[in-house]
Amino acid sequence: MTKSANTMWGGRFAAGPDAIMQAINASIGYDRRLAPQDIAGSRAHAAMLAACGIITDSDAAAIREGLLTVLSEIETGDFPFSTALEDIHMNVEARLRDLIGEPAGRLHTARSRNDQVAVDFRLWVRDQCDQADAALAALQSALLGQAEAGADWVMPGFTHLQTAQPVTWGHHMLAYVEMIARDRSRFADARKRMNTSPLGAAALAGTSFPIDRQMTADALGFDRPMSNSLDAVADRDFALDYLASASICAMHLSRLAEELVIWSSAQFRFVKMSDKWSTGSSIMPQKRNPDAAELIRAKIGRIFGANVALMTVMKGLPLTYSKDMQEDKEQTFDAADNLMLALAAMTGMVTDMTAQRDNLKAAAAGGFSTATDLADWLVRELGLPFREAHHVTGSLVAMAEGKGCDLPDLTLDDMRSVHDGIRTDVFDVLGVENSVASRTSFGGTAPSGVRAQVAHWKEVLK
Ligand code: ARG
Repeated sequence: MTKSANTMWGGRFAAGPDAIMQAINASIGYDRRLAPQDIAGSRAHAAMLAACGIITDSDAAAIREGLLTVLSEIETGDFPFSTALEDIHMNVEARLRDLIGEPAGRLHTARSRNDQVAVDFRLWVRDQCDQADAALAALQSALLGQAEAGADWVMPGFTHLQTAQPVTWGHHMLAYVEMIARDRSRFADARKRMNTSPLGAAALAGTSFPIDRQMTADALGFDRPMSNSLDAVADRDFALDYLASASICAMHLSRLAEELVIWSSAQFRFVKMSDKWSTGSSIMPQKRNPDAAELIRAKIGRIFGANVALMTVMKGLPLTYSKDMQEDKEQTFDAADNLMLALAAMTGMVTDMTAQRDNLKAAAAGGFSTATDLADWLVRELGLPFREAHHVTGSLVAMAEGKGCDLPDLTLDDMRSVHDGIRTDVFDVLGVENSVASRTSFGGTAPSGVRAQVAHWKEVLK
């Protein structure tokens, strides 16, 4: 079957592409998502061409009106997308020609699909940085709400997932607020770095037309035009910066998700997940499964995957544009969609979950969690070197373990049999509330410090 050649570039072609060629070549199945950015880029370009006297004002006006019609057709779902036209750029331009005729053919003056796709995708990724930032701010607020409510609720702090020292619920929630603040600053960094315009680089070498690249950069909200036309069309660092930031962010989400899975189990009972974020089992009536947390934990795989995939696409590519680079979009879209979904679900879960204050406190006292407080007391009150205090405390822990009790349940005589300097006021430091209250060093878990941090973050997030 002979097909006609592509009307956009088929001048020198006698026959159309093979069906399989069309299938491997076309990106319209996914890059249609770039339509708003493509039209914004074209509008900026057309206005600049007219301002620089490269096309007439009336052609620019026809192009502008036509592009607005195309955009509304796409928004209402009336747009006739064509695989034969390969990608969003040629679909939009072909439709523009149907709508306005000859002036449409002047839009591509001093431009190539190479700088066109570079600008479209950059605008899209930039927007994702902004959306991620807003979603992360919402998650911070949800965590802050938990932190404020439970600034002085004691819970076990863990290392190796073994009870380490008592901490406060508020302190634990604020740890994630800090992580997310770094995520936000990574996205902000990436956004700042990517905010330069490739438009006007044309195919790769620039153009002989007297264009004004600052004008299109300004119109699209970029800080300035990119300085090297080869770099402008060959660069996908901006997407990699985004995906790297998204990967670290997703890794943080997976850690919190993992804690929610553990904490909501019957063995821990640290939190009760809301019905809104739990599912039941079709066979086991007692089950409340934390599926949303599990799915967030799992979704990092595809986000890491997108990052690695694009690194691999870009690796070893000679300058400038190669068609390999068309493979930049699909996985980035998927990563961004899943990051936003994970953030929304995490924010919902955190907002609606209920910390089980009594269970947290009971767990905080177990596992000899105040052993360090006892050792510190021996240092502070009896002047023991820390290593010796550690040893004495270890003996007391072994004794308590042997008796099947906790440290505060030992008698003074028990204690004095290990070290005869121990006095009755040692029992003051063995309670978990006293333990956390004593951790007043900067950044420590004392409720006073947590309240100060809550106040700080409330100000920041206002
Ligand atoms: N669909 C292409 C992409 O996403 C647009 C750029 C095509 N440029 C070219 N010279 N074939 O990369």
